[in-house]
Amino acid sequence: MRLKIIGSAAGGGFPQWNCNYRLSRAARAGSTSVRPRLQSSLAASADGRDWILFNASPDIRQQIAQTPELQPRAEGPLRSTPIKAVVLTNGDVDHVAGLLSLREREPFAIYAAPQILAILAANPIFDVLDPTIVPRRALPIEGELEIRDPTGRPTGLMVESFAVPGKVPLYLEDRSRPDADFSSDSGDTMGVRIWSGADEDRAALYIPGCARVDDVLRRRLLGAASVLFDGTLYTDDEMIAAGVGQKTGQRMGHIAMSGDDGSIARLSGLDIERAIFVHINNTNPVLDEESAEHAAVRAAGWEIAQDGMEIEL
Ligand code: MLT
Ligand code: MN
Repeated sequence: MRLKIIGSAAGGGFPQWNCNYRLSRAARAGSTSVRPRLQSSLAASADGRDWILFNASPDIRQQIAQTPELQPRAEGPLRSTPIKAVVLTNGDVDHVAGLLSLREREPFAIYAAPQILAILAANPIFDVLDPTIVPRRALPIEGELEIRDPTGRPTGLMVESFAVPGKVPLYLEDRSRPDADFSSDSGDTMGVRIWSGADEDRAALYIPGCARVDDVLRRRLLGAASVLFDGTLYTDDEMIAAGVGQKTGQRMGHIAMSGDDGSIARLSGLDIERAIFVHINNTNPVLDEESAEHAAVRAAGWEIAQDGMEIEL
C-alpha cells in the first residue's frame, strides 16, 4: 500500500490567506525552515493505479496538479481520473469543500458517516455531484468495509472506521449559545484504519481530528505500523497566546501535542512504528524546523508531515 500526504496543514492552510502571525509571515518570505503546506488530505492506493482520497480539501485542484498519480493517465479516456473514492472523516470545511471541485460528471464514490452524508444531502450545492453518478455510501460508525469504485468494483483498499472524541462542524454550532458543549463522540469525527486487502498487518491509522486520547483509542493504536494523527496545536491555549483567536484546542475538538494530557504523552509506550503529525495549524511552532518545539517533537519519536510525504506499507 502507498500513502501520500497531499495536504499537511489544518483548515486555512499554511500560510492562511489572512494570517499575519510570525509563522505565516516566515513561510511567505520563503524561509527555508518554515515551509508552506496545503490543507488536510491523504491519498492511498493498494495497487498504485486506483487512488482513494481521505478528505477533499479546498486545495484539491492544486493537490492533484502536484501529484501525478492523481491525474488522468496519458493513455486513459478523454475524461477520466484515478481517484475512485473519497472518504470523509468529518464535515469540516477543510475536509468537504474540495468535493465541489470534483464536479464535471466524473464518477467516483463518496464514503462518510451517516451524519456527514446528511450534511451533504441538506446542502443542495453538493448536488453538483449527482448521486446517480457519484454514489454516496455510509461509512460505519464502527466497522470494516472494502472501498469500492463507483461501479462496485473493489479497489483493494480496506478501511475500518470508528468514532473518536471530536466535535460537530463549526458551521453547525449554535451561534446563540457560544459556550455550549459542541463536543461529540458519536461519529461527527471519525478515525480510519487503512490497509491493502493483501496485508492487514501493515495498516495505517489516519486520525486528523481528535479531542482526546482515551483508553479505547490507545488500544486501537497499539503496535500500529503507522499513525497519522491530529497535530493541530502544540499547546492547548496556543491560538489565544498568539493573539489570533479566543478558542482553546479543546473547544475546537483538537488535542494538543504537548502536556500531560497531550497526544505525545497519551500515545507513548504503544510501540507505534511510525507516528506522524498531520493537520497542523498555522500557529503551531513545530512548523518552524529550527524551533525548540520541533526538536522536542522529533526527540519524542514523532515526525511532522510535509506535503508530498510518502509512506509505503
Ligand atoms: C477544524 O479542524 O477544527 C476545522 O477545520 C475548523 C474549521 O472548520 O475551520
Ligand atoms: Mn480541520
